[in-house]
Amino acid sequence: MTDKTFSLTNNSTGDSVELPVRQGAMGPDVVDIGTLYRNHGVFTFDPGFVSTGSCESQITYIDGEKGVLLYRGYPIEQLAGKSNFIEVAYLLLYGELPSKTQLSEFSGSITHHTMINETLLRFFNGFHYNAHPMAMVSGVISSMSAFYHDSMKIDDPVHREIFAHRVIAKIPTVAAAAYKHSMGQPFIYPRNDLDYCSNLLNMFFSVPCEPYEINPIAAEAIDLLFILHADHEQNCSTSTVRLAGSSGANPYAAIAAGVSALWGPAHGGANEAVLKMLNEIGSVENIPKFVARAKDKNDPFRLMGFGHRVYKNFDPRATLIRDMCHKVLKATGGDANGPLFELALALEEVALKDEYFIEKNLYPNVDFYSGIIYRALGIPVSMFTVMFAVARTVGWVAHWLEMIADPQGRIGRPRQLYTGAPLRDYVPVSERD
Ligand code: CMC
Repeated sequence: MTDKTFSLTNNSTGDSVELPVRQGAMGPDVVDIGTLYRNHGVFTFDPGFVSTGSCESQITYIDGEKGVLLYRGYPIEQLAGKSNFIEVAYLLLYGELPSKTQLSEFSGSITHHTMINETLLRFFNGFHYNAHPMAMVSGVISSMSAFYHDSMKIDDPVHREIFAHRVIAKIPTVAAAAYKHSMGQPFIYPRNDLDYCSNLLNMFFSVPCEPYEINPIAAEAIDLLFILHADHEQNCSTSTVRLAGSSGANPYAAIAAGVSALWGPAHGGANEAVLKMLNEIGSVENIPKFVARAKDKNDPFRLMGFGHRVYKNFDPRATLIRDMCHKVLKATGGDANGPLFELALALEEVALKDEYFIEKNLYPNVDFYSGIIYRALGIPVSMFTVMFAVARTVGWVAHWLEMIADPQGRIGRPRQLYTGAPLRDYVPVSERD
């Protein structure tokens, strides 16, 4: 708490309330309204939680005006350039960069938890081949609670740690099983001699009948995308994980709730939507028509991959991904299925010069370019959001752990502005007109 206060005056009664102001390690001051209803009988109204901090957190910091993203204080650019996904996962979970021994133990633990129970594998056969992989992934993650009973006691730190390592280790295996099922190909078991991202590529693309060579640039690109997608403070899916977990629900159920929330096109589903949009635009000559549609209030069309609730200057992740796009397209022999990267660059150029996008601070976000990389690596569009989910699992787990260990933690339970019918008496159906 600071000495600062914030006053709120009720103009009809003249009553004034002094609210305490809290100061984080960085970022704007936060007015603590926790006692407002109890002491003064009013709620605050903030649809979409635009001005609401829902919790205290020490994991990730974003300055949307300056385009800053820090994991545990470390700038995303440094982590993307010097670290790797497993080290970043350790950092997000435990708060500090690991020593050599800690890193090797953590990496070993993740590697040795990658297999999934054979019975879980059979779940995939219950899905039609064309089921959306996000449906399979959320269903199977939720079902893990029925299998791994040694990680279900949420008040036991040992159980919580086993859960954390297990779900981070198994999510690529679940993702790959969903992919193989949709392709009608045999499931490929994880390989403990491979790093996290190479193992994922191998489970996706190798087949039992011939050797598969892992392209190191593909593994590097996935590692970068996973670092950039690993966490993003209280976004929609992470808040969903916290809210579901705040009821004491088992952690697999909470993560499955996060997968479901991520699926929507305004969130993680945007990478899939971007690719569909670029295909629909088709060629550079059509860009003005689509930009005009995005600006038309009567047309629901939006430029997917543009805009962000928090970033109002640029999304630092988009810049890093754009650079990786060049590298991947060069290594994979170009955008074989159509020049979508060139189209995306041209669309970005047009939109960034357009008064509408300038005025509303709409810039390309992380999802504008990530799909182009995934596509160049041969990952089908329907799997894009699954790839996002694999990476974000680390962030969800870190936030779930932080929430469960928080002594101030209580069930998340927002209130509402009721606008329905006022009190009225029930009328029997025989007396209704
Ligand atoms: N194209 C055209 N207009 C837009 C767009 C867009 N992509 N995004 C926002 N606007 C307009 C919007 O119509 C509104 O105009 P007005 O003030 O005249 O009503 C204004 O900009 C503010 O938009 P908003 O929807 O109130 O902003 P928000 O903070 O609630 O939504 C957003 C943020 C990311 C959902 C939104 O920008 C959007 O729908 N973008 C496209 C989907 C997308 O790329 N999502 C991925 C987000 S980043 C990764 C992630 O979160 O997973």
